[in-house]
Amino acid sequence: MSFGDGDPPSGTHGEAKYPSFGPSNPTQSSTATGNGESSIEAIAHKIQESLSLSKRHRFWETQPVGQFKDLGDASLPEGSIEPPSPLSEVKSDPYPLPALYEWTTCDIDDDATAAEIYSLLSNNYVEDDDNMFRFNYSKEFLLWALRPPGYFKSWHIGVRVKSSKKLVGFITGIPARIRASTVVVRMAEVNFLCVHKKLRSKRLAPVLIKEVTRRVHREDTWQAAYTAGVVLPTPISTCQYWHRSLNPKKLIEVGFSRLGARMTMSRTIRLYKLPPSPVIPGFRKMEIRDVPAVTSLLRVYLSKFAVAPDLDEKDVAHWLLPRENVVDSFLVKNPETHEITDFCSFYTLPSLILNNANYTNLKAAYSFYNVATKTPLLQLMNDALIVAKQKDYDVFNALDVMENESFLKELKFGPGDGMLHYYLYNYRLRHALKPSELGLVLL
Ligand SMILES: CC(C)(COP(=O)(O)OP(=O)(O)OC[C@H]1O[C@@H](n2cnc3c(N)ncnc32)[C@H](O)[C@@H]1OP(=O)(O)O)[C@@H](O)C(=O)NCCC(=O)NCCS
Repeated sequence: MSFGDGDPPSGTHGEAKYPSFGPSNPTQSSTATGNGESSIEAIAHKIQESLSLSKRHRFWETQPVGQFKDLGDASLPEGSIEPPSPLSEVKSDPYPLPALYEWTTCDIDDDATAAEIYSLLSNNYVEDDDNMFRFNYSKEFLLWALRPPGYFKSWHIGVRVKSSKKLVGFITGIPARIRASTVVVRMAEVNFLCVHKKLRSKRLAPVLIKEVTRRVHREDTWQAAYTAGVVLPTPISTCQYWHRSLNPKKLIEVGFSRLGARMTMSRTIRLYKLPPSPVIPGFRKMEIRDVPAVTSLLRVYLSKFAVAPDLDEKDVAHWLLPRENVVDSFLVKNPETHEITDFCSFYTLPSLILNNANYTNLKAAYSFYNVATKTPLLQLMNDALIVAKQKDYDVFNALDVMENESFLKELKFGPGDGMLHYYLYNYRLRHALKPSELGLVLL
């Protein structure tokens, strides 16, 4: 991606965590990578990937992460790359910042601080390659994302300009238990890395990453999981976003998608039309009394994947109980046996539409965790699309993780043209994973 002022001279732009947008018509494949990729784009993509692999990573080469040179070396053991240090050896002072800046621990319970974070991110966080859209995480979403059970305030880290106190940098960690193969590892999930547009390319990002790492170490945690749109050393998996139009007219008008070849607007609207309400008998919103049953469904399901979160009832209550405009969860309760057999969920991450005269906000739902034991997954996700449409979302996005591939094409999702890379810090897997082997969705 390219940014405004302070655009990095090389390297980090051109790719983004943004779920870059594919064609409006799932049958049209000209901009898509993956199966439908045209040959020129396939070649361009391969060249780009190989350039990324040969590129020097002045910072990441110094970190305990899988290095490109070790790719394919099956003799390296799975597990921690570096052993933990004694806690007494973890630096107690923050990393030095350039003289004009200072560290701040962001108290997100304080309204004014939460508003500053919201404002930094809504003006400076991830954009698509063409700078048409920017993620617009809501304040309520940030409070949810950053305060899971056992969270550490000290892991919500900001950088301010000393003189004005303006917030210009941000990074966060939250605690999680993540299973890799058979081992459950205490990790930090690191997210919301952001440097103000005017301060890009000054090597502030490595300082933010080192500081969050130090504070994570202080809590006796030695591993982390994160995702990025950029290729860094070295992804454990590379996934693709798919998009299901719910409001195709708006998506086309704002340039999110295009009218397919030989398609009219009215045919497109008809193509994406959905029934007015969910169709599965016993489909309803998740409630607090469902937490134990949903936890067991999820635990059994997630045990199938090579890397997945280890969720207990407290985690499930936090991450999956519905919160207005933040997270939605539904389940199927068999009307006869009263057994809870299936579950689906999505989170709400709107984007700002930059430079459109008629629209400023794109309302997007992102597939979260879904488990189907009795209802076919395809039908379950069709009901998820129906409720998202009822709630006025413009688009429903899903990664090709877990078993999502089994419904994407049939439910008229189209492939996006960017990739989301998953990473582990200080943990090596013997093999890279296919997206379908990943049971983890980060926000
Ligand atoms: C991501 C961002 C903080 C990087 O800051 P920057 O000013 O562009 O880059 P800096 O000069 O400070 O640092 C460059 C180093 O950070 C690394 N880096 C850049 N983006 C990164 C990311 N998303 N995750 C981890 N490291 C990243 C670079 O690879 C480089 O290290 P290397 O030399 O070892 O390759 C900034 O571009 C930004 O705020 N972008 C918008 C929000 C965003 O994309 N956030 C990341 C979401 S995953």
